[in-house]
Amino acid sequence: MWHALAAIFFFALPSLQSAVPKKFAPLKFAKDGTFQISILEDLHFGENAWDTWGPEQDVNSVTVINRVLDTESPDLVVLNGDLITGNNAFLENSTVYIDEIVGPLVDRGLTWASTYGNHDSAYNLSREAMLAREHRWPNSRTEQMVFGREAGVSNYYLPVYGSDDQDSTFFDSRGGFYFQELDSSGNEIGQPNWVDVSVVDWFKKTNAEFIQKYQKNIPSLVFVHIPTNASLAAQTEVGINPHREPGINDDYTLAQQGQGWCADGSDASSCTYGGQDVPFMEALVNTPGVLAVFSGHDHGDTWCYKWDSLISGMNVKGNGVNLCFGQHSGYGGYGSWIRGSRQVLVTEAKLKNKVIDSWIRLESGHVVGAVSLNPTYGEDSYPETPDLLSSCPTCNYTLASK
Ligand SMILES: *[C@@H]1O[C@H](CO)[C@@H](O)[C@H](O)[C@H]1NC(C)=O
Ligand SMILES: *[C@@H]1O[C@H](CO)[C@@H](O)[C@H](O)[C@H]1NC(C)=O
Ligand SMILES: *[C@@H]1O[C@H](CO)[C@@H](O)[C@H](O)[C@H]1NC(C)=O
Ligand SMILES: *[C@@H]1O[C@H](CO)[C@@H](O)[C@H](O)[C@H]1NC(C)=O
Repeated sequence: MWHALAAIFFFALPSLQSAVPKKFAPLKFAKDGTFQISILEDLHFGENAWDTWGPEQDVNSVTVINRVLDTESPDLVVLNGDLITGNNAFLENSTVYIDEIVGPLVDRGLTWASTYGNHDSAYNLSREAMLAREHRWPNSRTEQMVFGREAGVSNYYLPVYGSDDQDSTFFDSRGGFYFQELDSSGNEIGQPNWVDVSVVDWFKKTNAEFIQKYQKNIPSLVFVHIPTNASLAAQTEVGINPHREPGINDDYTLAQQGQGWCADGSDASSCTYGGQDVPFMEALVNTPGVLAVFSGHDHGDTWCYKWDSLISGMNVKGNGVNLCFGQHSGYGGYGSWIRGSRQVLVTEAKLKNKVIDSWIRLESGHVVGAVSLNPTYGEDSYPETPDLLSSCPTCNYTLASK
């Protein structure tokens, strides 16, 4: 969870007086007891800046963001990793794309929180520089709470205040390549792609302090760019049911934390998964307040799965936490699945029963995959999500041929 890991914790704080403008104030439930999050993921800005198609697809991505925000009025936008494709970036302007991404948010006075993805680290792009660029905007709530070469950057939590406590935690699952570093053969140096154990330790310690202080488990949402092995195991060992876990399931088998890394810490395409995300998975299931984990990375997967059992082949047993993908939001990055944004609606009343609602708002304006992440999620039946493709935000949408 630690190259882009974030958790939002929801806290009770009845009367927060704010003379400060709304966007600088701590996050709060609205008067009607709701708090809505729009997740934008895998925007992949800045591809091939010297060609026409790179800048053009960024214009299309801005249109997607505007369309989503015209329909949804979130209290917080989460940029869940791979904001920029750093691989072809130029050192002198690799972070300017942040301004383009957040333009529609700034225009609307919205506030956001990011996790960084594997494409946000490259020879010419650093996570530290992205954070610095974000912090030019007061609307950014992205932070770094864990330091060190192995920790990643976007590891932090955000409290949300209401009549009950809640928060979100953001984790950095890292990946990509170290900034301005080459090995003796002149090759870029890979950065591990899982949430580092130093971040897991910070999360456990922070959570223990909350329990001590508030005498209860704080309901919380987790954001991390790359999903864990539990999502892969759900997909391959249990199977994703199109009615019970509605969503596109085209990235089969999905890519997870630790992919491409051997157990001994070396990375080669021949490496088989070495289980490096096990400490993170253990921390998630041992933290009863964590209601859901939201990831991106796999552009062709958009479902939620309730991890409530010991899946064959795994040692970590699920405790009922919901593992969700969002929707590919950008015209950059691989795949032409219709773009969109997962919405998460937290209401104070439902939170008492650990229930949150979610749906995906497509660039076409339609809603798909509207579900209640309640105790019977995984047994309830929903309409199947159509597997749509799109080639531009003002074009028509076609069904993927299977
Ligand atoms: C970044 O620099 C490159 C190389 O000079 C240029 O082609 C590109 O247009 C620049 N991008 C932006 C957004 O200014
Ligand atoms: C990094 O940026 C420099 C300066 O723009 C450019 O010349 C170089 O090709 C870039 N390197 C990589 C690996 O993208
Ligand atoms: C990861 O999941 C696969 C199933 O997809 C399973 O075979 C493997 O044992 C799991 N490994 C760990 C460490 O969880
Ligand atoms: C989209 O489909 C409608 C109805 O079939 C058609 O009238 C319109 O020209 C199409 N637009 C594009 C951009 O293909």
